[in-house]
Amino acid sequence: MSSIISVKGLSVSYERKRVLTNIYLEIDTGQIHGVIGPNGAGKSTLFKAILGLIDTDSGSILIEGKSIEEVRKRVVYVPQKNNVDWQFPATVFDIVLMGRYPFKKIFQRLNKEDKQIAMDALEEVGITHLKERQIGELSGGQQQRVFLARALCQQAEVFLLDEPFVGIDITTESKIIQILKKLANEGKTLMVVHHDLSTVEEYFDKVILLNQRLVAHGNTDETFSPENIKKAYGGQLPILHKTGGIG
Ligand SMILES: Nc1ncnc2c1ncn2[C@@H]1O[C@H](COP(=O)(O)OP(=O)(O)OP(=O)(O)O)[C@@H](O)[C@H]1O
Ligand SMILES: [Mg+2]
Repeated sequence: MSSIISVKGLSVSYERKRVLTNIYLEIDTGQIHGVIGPNGAGKSTLFKAILGLIDTDSGSILIEGKSIEEVRKRVVYVPQKNNVDWQFPATVFDIVLMGRYPFKKIFQRLNKEDKQIAMDALEEVGITHLKERQIGELSGGQQQRVFLARALCQQAEVFLLDEPFVGIDITTESKIIQILKKLANEGKTLMVVHHDLSTVEEYFDKVILLNQRLVAHGNTDETFSPENIKKAYGGQLPILHKTGGIG
């Protein structure tokens, strides 16, 4: 298996407060990697650093051996939901179509093929019927599906999804995880920030346990151990959201 994202010695601070310290990660292709850790652990910050959206103190991040600037359109990012403001008017179809813009030159128009790709993405996530609706008028789960459709539309190699399952129903969640697993089977690489520890073993091939430092990274069955989870959560075993999960 080969690594597609390589993080070496990454440290990040906000206003001199260290939030990520000396992170080394090699992310393999064709797998779903869960990013797990308590609130404030630096999970979203890790994504922003990979995407080149924030300044870093030190370290290097390469995707396919290149800088993010060179491969940006092959990388999809769906931010943590509550950071998005839906006041501006746009239909579901508009939003999904935005996934095609990275492939266009400035002023170049979207064509039939782009629209077909967008339609296929809507179909895939099961929201074709919502196509003409205003994004701001959708439920949280429907909005999540719209972002996933846009991500599919971009036909990227790397997907960074920050808590895609927050505030959505169980049917939507299983639909989304099905799509993510299919993408991984097609050789795409996915990193998913996730809080529900009871579904980690079912969802992820690998886990990255983070709490400002890298606590552990590896195959879920070996790495997602009570010992490592305790380490990541500051000595306490967190309460699970659902029954089952860690032994
Ligand atoms: N723009 C910012 N300015 C200052 N501090 C920030 C900023 N963004 C995040 N932080 C701080 O950095 C730390 C890591 O934040 P981050 O958002 O990466 O955590 P997280 O692991 O994603 O948490 P959560 O599970 O709550 O989403 C937190 O202590 C947070 O308060
Ligand atoms: Mg976060």
